[in-house]
Amino acid sequence: MSAQIIAMANQKGGVGKTTSAINLAACFVAAERSTLLVDLDPQGNASVGLGMEADKFRHQNIYHALIGSTDVNQVIYDTQLEFLKIIPSDNNLVGAEMELVSVMARESKLKTALSSITDQYEYIIIDCPPSLGLLTLNAFCAADSFIVPLQTEYFAMEGLAQLLNTIKLINSSLNPTLFMRGILLTMFDSRNNLHKQVAEEVRNHFGDQVFETVIPRNVKLSECPSFGKPIILYDIESRGSQAYLSLAREIIVERVETERFLN
Ligand SMILES: Nc1ncnc2c1ncn2[C@@H]1O[C@H](COP(=O)(O)OP(=O)(O)O)[C@@H](O)[C@H]1O
Ligand SMILES: [Mg+2]
Repeated sequence: MSAQIIAMANQKGGVGKTTSAINLAACFVAAERSTLLVDLDPQGNASVGLGMEADKFRHQNIYHALIGSTDVNQVIYDTQLEFLKIIPSDNNLVGAEMELVSVMARESKLKTALSSITDQYEYIIIDCPPSLGLLTLNAFCAADSFIVPLQTEYFAMEGLAQLLNTIKLINSSLNPTLFMRGILLTMFDSRNNLHKQVAEEVRNHFGDQVFETVIPRNVKLSECPSFGKPIILYDIESRGSQAYLSLAREIIVERVETERFLN
């Protein structure tokens, strides 16, 4: 079996990509699905948020796998959860964007790097940087699908058209089968009328392309990265934990149903 590869993408920063990548990955593992998290952001927030120490992976990380100097198996690390692995990143990766510009097939470096290990996992989640540059293109080329975290604030949908246009271009060239797995509403405060309005607007516009699960604004979710833990190890009772467990369930159930349909 081959992993489902999901990119967490939105060129806006601060919308909950990294929080969703870490916690969805951890919740897949809680549901006994072996998972690899790929940190593709030079800021390395997903790596630090999962408790990785920067000096331990400085010479063996996603950058080295992308430029092809290191075998991908050498850049995969254990986490506190037995079946959750990570390929970490640090600001070296800024260099990769520039170094790869003149290289052949520069958009498919990640796909190539991951190709030998996709049968070892059920899910691979790629945490994208906040841009539509070469790194994110690599994620779209390697992935089967993508999730768009959307903060329920004013201007939430701004930029979404540009993102979806980019996907159209990718579909007509690099990756014809890439599809949107869903829009994920994040940092939702049910007492805030604007949040409710934005959520409704997004659902009116995108219908069942929006996940039923909504991620609430939850202070525990913002605290846990500083302890290097996913939310389910930090506070399993929190609303943040319950929301990401529910999101994982939504995605797993969909997969089981699709496989039943295909067989
Ligand atoms: N549901 C949430 N509730 C509270 N804080 C959140 C939530 N999701 C994310 N945050 C916080 O918001 C900030 C931006 O989130 P992050 O996941 O890093 O976004 P991105 O990766 O899109 O830049 C971080 O400080 C994070 O801890
Ligand atoms: Mg991030």
